[in-house]
Amino acid sequence: MAPRVIVVTSGKGGVGKTTATANIAAALAISGNKVVAVDGDVGLRNLDVIMGLENRIVYTLVDALEGNCRLNQTLIKDKRVDNLFMIPTAQSKTKDAVTSDQMVNVCAELRKDFDFVLIDSPAGIEAGFRNAAAGADEALVITTPEVSAVRDADRIIGLLESMEKSPIFLVVNRIRPQMVKRGDMLGVSDVLDILQIGLIGMIPDDENVVKSANEGKPLTFGDESRASVAFKNIAARITGENIPFMNLEAPQKGFFARIRDAFGGGR
Ligand SMILES: Nc1ncnc2c1ncn2[C@@H]1O[C@H](COP(=O)(O)OP(=O)(O)OP(=O)(O)O)[C@@H](O)[C@H]1O
Ligand SMILES: [Mg+2]
Repeated sequence: MAPRVIVVTSGKGGVGKTTATANIAAALAISGNKVVAVDGDVGLRNLDVIMGLENRIVYTLVDALEGNCRLNQTLIKDKRVDNLFMIPTAQSKTKDAVTSDQMVNVCAELRKDFDFVLIDSPAGIEAGFRNAAAGADEALVITTPEVSAVRDADRIIGLLESMEKSPIFLVVNRIRPQMVKRGDMLGVSDVLDILQIGLIGMIPDDENVVKSANEGKPLTFGDESRASVAFKNIAARITGENIPFMNLEAPQKGFFARIRDAFGGGR
């Protein structure tokens, strides 16, 4: 299989790019792929914390680009899962510390060793985004079902198309089925009507996401929460599996309903 380099982007900030990068990278590694997650958000690095690898940083991507170390010295191997690596970025530098050409070269190097390179990018349409995306072939666009986020996603999709990224897939994050039902939140079909790109995943709003970020342990390491399953499904779809979309409208079965089912009474 040819290596794949995927940038994880959004127009609006705070919609879940870093969370998605960490969880999808972990899920791809667990299913047997050699994966590196690269923090492309220079100056506002977060991926290391969400992946729980912040205490293992010796060199950053910027150190390698400045010639202070080799690229492979920036790789942090996750000890909890085989085949999962991360490259941190610098916290004390500005977005121009990494150029587009440098990112293209970094990605070319990483293609030699990895099945998947996932790049977490900064929000917005400025140079930071363009640099992070420069070396990628494909893109995942993350949005929440809010009008402002969807409008900004539309803008970023236009830019990704002009940069000839393909395929570009959409992830709708932080869905709250009850709000959609009441008509207080856009549904996924509304978002798809507006953005007109392929959907690769829907993630419910789930407090386990916040908990796992604080613990530095991606949900897809083992948790069976709905968000975890949703991220694992995205990873499987990326590798070409045909997984049906979760029905986020259906309420989760409570404890008693499950017991009833176990005794054959779930009619
Ligand atoms: N599905 C979810 N359910 C609940 N909370 C979520 C979900 N996805 C993301 N969050 C929370 O939203 C916040 C922003 O997430 P994250 O940092 O991944 O976004 P981002 O797009 O990378 O932000 P930035 O643009 O600042 O880089 C975090 O506190 C995260 O835990
Ligand atoms: Mg982020």
